[in-house]
Amino acid sequence: MAIQKKIKELMDLRNEARLGGGERRIDAQHKKGKLTARERIDLLLDEGSFEEFDMFVSHRSIDFGLDKEAYLSDGVVTGYGTVDGRLIYIFSQDFTVFGGSLSEMYAQKICKIMDKAMKVGAPIIGINDSGGARIQEGVKSLGGYADIFQRNIMASGLVPQISAVFGPCAGGAVYSPALTDFILMSEDTSYMFVTGPKVVKTVTGEEVTQNELGGSNVHSSKSGVAHFVSVDEYEGISMIRKLLSYLPQNNLEEPPLANNDDPIDRLEDSLNEIIPENPNKPYNVKDIIHAIADYGEFLEVQRQYAPNIVVGFSKFNGMSTGIVANQPSYLAGVLDINASRKAARFVRFCDSFNIPILTLVDVPGFLPGTAQEYSGIIIHGAKLLFAYGEATVPKITVILRKAYGGAYDVMSSKHLRGDINYSWPAAEIAVMGPKGAIEILHYKELQSIEDVEERIKFMREKEEEYKKKFATPYVAAKYGYIDDVIEPRNTRFRVIRALQMLATKKDINPPKKHSNIPL
Ligand code: HXC
Repeated sequence: MAIQKKIKELMDLRNEARLGGGERRIDAQHKKGKLTARERIDLLLDEGSFEEFDMFVSHRSIDFGLDKEAYLSDGVVTGYGTVDGRLIYIFSQDFTVFGGSLSEMYAQKICKIMDKAMKVGAPIIGINDSGGARIQEGVKSLGGYADIFQRNIMASGLVPQISAVFGPCAGGAVYSPALTDFILMSEDTSYMFVTGPKVVKTVTGEEVTQNELGGSNVHSSKSGVAHFVSVDEYEGISMIRKLLSYLPQNNLEEPPLANNDDPIDRLEDSLNEIIPENPNKPYNVKDIIHAIADYGEFLEVQRQYAPNIVVGFSKFNGMSTGIVANQPSYLAGVLDINASRKAARFVRFCDSFNIPILTLVDVPGFLPGTAQEYSGIIIHGAKLLFAYGEATVPKITVILRKAYGGAYDVMSSKHLRGDINYSWPAAEIAVMGPKGAIEILHYKELQSIEDVEERIKFMREKEEEYKKKFATPYVAAKYGYIDDVIEPRNTRFRVIRALQMLATKKDINPPKKHSNIPL
C-alpha cells in the first residue's frame, strides 16, 4: 500500500537523522569518552518525553563542496521534553556532523526552540559540543550566532537558561553560554576559550595547552566562568536535573514546593557550640548550612571560585532558597572583588526567579590593599550592594559572628530592605574589629606609652571595653536593625517561620527602563 511505503520512507529518514554524521564518527565520539547529542538528551529528559523538531532540516550551502555533503538535522538536535514532569526546551549540538559547527539553518533551529520557550515560559537547556562557526558558511554562521545571542539576552530573567559544555566551545561561540544563567563543564572533555592555543601563540608568544587555557579547572577556579564541574557527562546531566528542581519555570512563577519530612522544628544542638571562643578562629559555614537545610542538602554554585563566599541552593520545608554565606575558613570570609561578583550574580539570579535569599553573615570587612583597589573593589563591591538593594524577594539574614564595617551594610542588612534580620548571641556588629578601633581611637595615648608591657595592657583593657560595648548584637537590636537575637540551635525553625511568613511578600521597585548596576 502506498501509505505503508510513505511510512517506511518516514522511518528511514528518521533513522538517517538519528545517525547524525554516521557510525564512524559516533564511535570516535564514544572513544573520546563523550556521549552523542541524542544520548545526552535521553539521559536528561524523562523517559519517552522528548519531542524533536526539525529533524529534516539540512543546510543550504553550496560552497566548498557542501552541495555534496549534507546531514539531516544539520548538527544540532532540538525539541522539548520534561524533567521530573516539568517542561523544558533543549538543544544539543552534534559533534558528529561537521564537528557540531554552527550553520545558518542550525542557528535557526536553536532560535525556534528559544522563541517557543520564551512564549510558553519554560527553561532552555543548551548542550554545547562544537567546533564553532561552520567555516564554509562564513558570515551566515556569524549572523546565526548573533541571532542566538539576542535571544539569550531577551530570555535572561524571563526563563532559566542552563548551558552544559561537554566538548569544545571556542571563539565567539562561548558567548551564548556566557549569557545564560549557569554553565556546567565536564572534567577532561570540555574547554572554552575566546581564542585557541594557536592564536595565543601567534599573538602573545605564550605556549599553552587547550586544557591550561580553558579547561574545566581553569573556569571553575580561576575565571569563575563555570558554575559547576562534573566528573563526567552522566554526573553533569544529573546535576542539571537537580538544579532544575530548585527553579521555577519562568519569572512569573514560584519555584516548585518539594515534599518535606524533615521536621521543621529540628533542633541542632551542635550549632550552639560551632562558633569558636576565639573570634579569629575559623569554622566551616557549610556545616551550618547542612545543619539547617532540609535533609542537609545544599547544591553549591561556583564551589571552587572565591571560596571566601559560599552560594547555592537548599530547601527549607520544601521551599527553594538561595543561600549566600561568608566562609570564615577561607581568607576569614573577607569580601574581595571575586566574592562580591560571585555573590552579586547569584543574588540577582534568585531575585529574577522569585527565589528567597538567606544570608549567613560572618564577615570581617572588605579586603584592603593596592591589588584590590587598583582592580576596582569599589565598583565590584558595589555590585553586591546593588544586587541586595534592588532585590525584592524575601530576604532573611542571620548574623553568625562578625559583621563589620561596610560589609555589615552590604550583607543583606535591614537598611537594604532585609525583611528579617536575626543575629546569633555571640555576634559582633560594629564599624570595625576591636584592635583596629582601639588603634584609631586611642592613637595618641598609645604613642605616649613608652613601655611595651604597659602599652599591651592598655590595649587589652580598651579592647575589652570596646568588645563589651560594641561587639555584641544588642546595640543593633536596640535600634531595631536586628529583629531578634536567636539561639543558634533553633535557626532552622526560625528561618522556616520567616520564609512562611514572607511567602506572599510584595515589594516593587520604581518603574524605569532598567537600572544601571555598576558593571
Ligand atoms: C566546519 C568543522 C569545524 C568548523 C570542525 N569541523 N570544526 N567543520 N567548521 N568550525 C569538522 C572537521 O573538519 C572534521 O570533519 C570534524 O568536524 C571533526 O573535527 P576534528 O578536527 O577531526 O576533531 P578534533 O580533532 O576533535 O578537533 C576538534 C576541534 C577542531 C578542536 C574543534 O576541529 C577545530 O579546531 N576546529 C576549528 C575550530 C575553529 O577555529 N572554529 C572557528 C572558531 S571562530 P570530518 O569530516 O573529518 O569529520 C568562531 C566564531 C564564532 O566560532 C563567532 C560568533 C560571534
